[in-house]
Amino acid sequence: MNMIFLGAPGAGKGTQAEVVCKELNIPAISTGNMLREAVKNSTEAGLKAKSYMDAGELVPDEVVIGILKDRIAQPDAQNGFILDGFPRTVQQAEALESMGVEIDKVIEIDVPDDAIIARMSGRRVCEGCGNSYHIQYKPTKVEGICDACGAKVVQRIDDKPETVLARLKTYHEKTAPLKDYYEKRGKLVTVKGQNEIAETSRLTLAAIKGE
Ligand code: AP5
Repeated sequence: MNMIFLGAPGAGKGTQAEVVCKELNIPAISTGNMLREAVKNSTEAGLKAKSYMDAGELVPDEVVIGILKDRIAQPDAQNGFILDGFPRTVQQAEALESMGVEIDKVIEIDVPDDAIIARMSGRRVCEGCGNSYHIQYKPTKVEGICDACGAKVVQRIDDKPETVLARLKTYHEKTAPLKDYYEKRGKLVTVKGQNEIAETSRLTLAAIKGE
């Protein structure tokens, strides 16, 4: 099954993608994680992306589409995948269609802006594998150390409150129109994302199974 997880920054797309990919044994493909890796390794795409990401703006479509196209061509993505954070614009959605990629479901995780702002200050991410934690709602077992790979967990540069506001503005202007785009195609299912993480996972899996 090919799926898209859609939602505002911090809605919980990455957290739920982690749960669902284990349950369905398909990869979760996060363009944000891939771009952060590219920035860390100073690749050509990373050098182009950095200033946009730091400012909470979208990286130009041609950079992201190129990265995504290479990733979904990998062998592990041939039996289904979750796209976390892609598409982010109608142009990216059209690019996906023109690559011949069939999307089965678009899961929108819906969280109001005020809850997002409160959530983001507590997020910590692993410098090694990109796993996401929260100091209150999803703490690491050992403070400051990733449960999965043992690397350090840190606060993302773009999780500063002023950048979170810029990211929310970008989301409403550029990405929210995708709800209409996929609703018209009969693919959109909305899950309420303000509950606890485990309850949101239950609702997300039920939405995927069509329950
Ligand atoms: P990206 O990394 O995709 O960031 P984002 O969409 O802004 O999403 P986040 O990763 O911030 O949030 P999330 O929804 O995954 O939430 P999470 O599960 O971590 O993109 C970063 C940047 O890259 C963009 O700004 C852009 O510049 C660029 N980019 C990426 N893709 C692009 C594209 N396609 N086109 C152009 N540019 C692109 O949860 C957040 C926190 O809340 C965590 O701490 C978590 O533990 C906690 N939490 C989760 N669920 C709950 C819950 N139910 N209750 C309490 N806490 C919860």
